[in-house]
Amino acid sequence: MAQNKAWTVAGFPTGALSESNFKLVESATVAPKEGEVLVKNLWLSLDPYMRGRLSQSKSYVKGVEIGDVMTGETAGEVVESKHPKFKPGDKVTAPSGWQLYWTGNGDLVNKVDASKVPLSYFLGSLGMPGRTAYFGMKDILQPKAGETVVVSAASGAVGSVVGQLAKAWGARAVGIAGGKAKCDYVAKDLGFDACVDYKAGNLAADLKAACPKGIDCYFENVGGKILDTVLTLMNVKSRIAVCGLISDYNATEPYGVKMFRSILVNRIKVQGLIVFDWLERYPEGNKALQDLAAAGRLKTRESVLEGLEQAPKRLVGQLKGENFGKQLVKLA
Ligand SMILES: NC(=O)c1ccc[n+]([C@@H]2O[C@H](COP(=O)([O-])OP(=O)(O)OC[C@H]3O[C@@H](n4cnc5c(N)ncnc54)[C@H](OP(=O)(O)O)[C@@H]3O)[C@@H](O)[C@H]2O)c1
Repeated sequence: MAQNKAWTVAGFPTGALSESNFKLVESATVAPKEGEVLVKNLWLSLDPYMRGRLSQSKSYVKGVEIGDVMTGETAGEVVESKHPKFKPGDKVTAPSGWQLYWTGNGDLVNKVDASKVPLSYFLGSLGMPGRTAYFGMKDILQPKAGETVVVSAASGAVGSVVGQLAKAWGARAVGIAGGKAKCDYVAKDLGFDACVDYKAGNLAADLKAACPKGIDCYFENVGGKILDTVLTLMNVKSRIAVCGLISDYNATEPYGVKMFRSILVNRIKVQGLIVFDWLERYPEGNKALQDLAAAGRLKTRESVLEGLEQAPKRLVGQLKGENFGKQLVKLA
């Protein structure tokens, strides 16, 4: 049997995440029992939600415990199967965690068709982040043609899909991102109508100029000062989908919302979004995203590091915006 390597949880961070919160361990791979599969992981997805799992505070899902393999989704290949749905060689996504091999219940594994698109896309624009964008847009924001949709963390895995969906559905897409390079990519490569660099120092004025008719839909990924600035520009009867608050994830005290009054004055509908509430409709989301990609209207950018050893350092950096596009670790 091949040798497995895994990052386990060594401790819970207080404030900023640190590499010392993880410990690398080696073990033998485990043969699958009836109903299980053994997957060789080729790609590991790194996602901001992982910071929330490293906490004992109440959340929408139970966190990890000390000594657990760090939670995460992978894309890989079935090596051995005792589940009727899978055979060796099948390409899959699986809830493997941060490790080279995973043995577990085949019912938790998804077979994917990687013959036309790279396998890694099923962890990004065609996977969980893409579906998050799709259901948040389709069911919560419901943009009408001509309306203005603003999304923060616009160059990231979720934000990049939000804006491309807005364009595909006839709305105006305005991104907010950190730095000129990310903004150029969002506007020029992804085709958003505008992108505002929140690090340039004039967010309120720049966003106002980019949204001359105000904001009808806001897809929130960041929170903090960016949310407060957006709130000042929301239109009457506008909508906000609260998907993520990454600027608060490492904070010991939450920033809070100072412009809450705008929700009252403008009768804004605000709804939180957790993607797995749409579990039963994943096939619909997957098909919509795959159709958009096949039509050449869904571009993907990836930020790739090689080797499982890189994962902790990278997640620490990702929570400070060091990634540019969907963050992945190439495992083999
Ligand atoms: N609710 C759900 O079901 C669900 C599902 C998936 C994702 N999410 C959330 O959606 C958000 C985006 O996820 P993603 O997968 O697209 O992330 P991603 O691809 O890793 O991109 C994250 C981006 O956030 C920005 N960022 C990081 N730290 C920041 C800070 N302190 N202040 C402002 N911006 C910061 C950075 O872009 P800049 O350099 O442009 O700042 C970074 O590139 C996250 O909040 C995540 O938790 C929620």
